[in-house]
Amino acid sequence: GRVAVLMGGTSSEREVSLDSGRNVLEALQSRGVDAFAVDGIPALVDAIRAGTVDRVFNILHGNKGGGEDGVLQGLCEALGVPVTGSGVLGSSLSMDKIRTKQVWLSLGLPTPRYVRLAKGADVHDAARGIGLPLIIKPSCEGSSVGVSRVHDEAGLDEAVALAARYPGEMLMEQLVVGDELTVAVLADGAGHRALPSIRIVPKGEWYDYNAKYVAEDTQYLCPGLDGAAEDEIRRIALAAFEAAGCSGWGRVDVMRDRATGDFFLLEVNTAPGMTSHSLVPKAAREVGIGFEELCWRVLEAGMD
Ligand code: DAL
Ligand code: MG
Repeated sequence: GRVAVLMGGTSSEREVSLDSGRNVLEALQSRGVDAFAVDGIPALVDAIRAGTVDRVFNILHGNKGGGEDGVLQGLCEALGVPVTGSGVLGSSLSMDKIRTKQVWLSLGLPTPRYVRLAKGADVHDAARGIGLPLIIKPSCEGSSVGVSRVHDEAGLDEAVALAARYPGEMLMEQLVVGDELTVAVLADGAGHRALPSIRIVPKGEWYDYNAKYVAEDTQYLCPGLDGAAEDEIRRIALAAFEAAGCSGWGRVDVMRDRATGDFFLLEVNTAPGMTSHSLVPKAAREVGIGFEELCWRVLEAGMD
């Protein structure tokens, strides 16, 4: 059947999505799939109406016109067109970092301490509750867009002003001082499996947008850990993915406290990046799954 590779859109991650999408399109075509590019949800609706879409490979990142927040998933479900990745619930929940944390906490899964920052809230008061250093970020963005690390009180107001430029709520979160890790999750038979973790070693202070997509000197270690710690991070990542109602594929971002070795879950990405700098392809390669095969598996997951 014909596969629409849905990319682009109108979110803050449009450029990242176009880059991911072109790679996925090329990979599927090399596998002999009759795949074509579609930019954004309105164009997808037109293509579905024209009867040219049998399946959607969703690589649209972000919310509000992005394809990661459940809106696309509900649309496709209503129109009877299968789409890759998580369904309405998993997508919608995972796009919202605050509510994802609430679900994890209710199950005893570890995540950094946080408070929701209502517009106009007393940010200095909130910071006293969380303690410095801390993170301020929009609850529903990706690729570190709108995120600040704050080390002293003087930086609070600017960080809030930046996060407030994006739609939806904001949160303040305890900064876990230590390693940035991520775990890709892939469908495996009737269930899912966690791939080897990746430890990210950015040249600058942290893995921000520049370190993610621009810098050529960010280092990636895979597997990121060894022995019992590697087993543990895969276990909690898989539990976190399933707790959020996710399916098909995804990537769970995790921090590890340098002093204690404890893990803290940050979020699930339900349409993770597939750029040449991105992480899921690196983890897949580590277990012998090349990029084309990875795209094929994501397309086929949950389709039978
Ligand atoms: N939000 C970006 C695309 C990622 O998680 O890879
Ligand atoms: Mg993200």
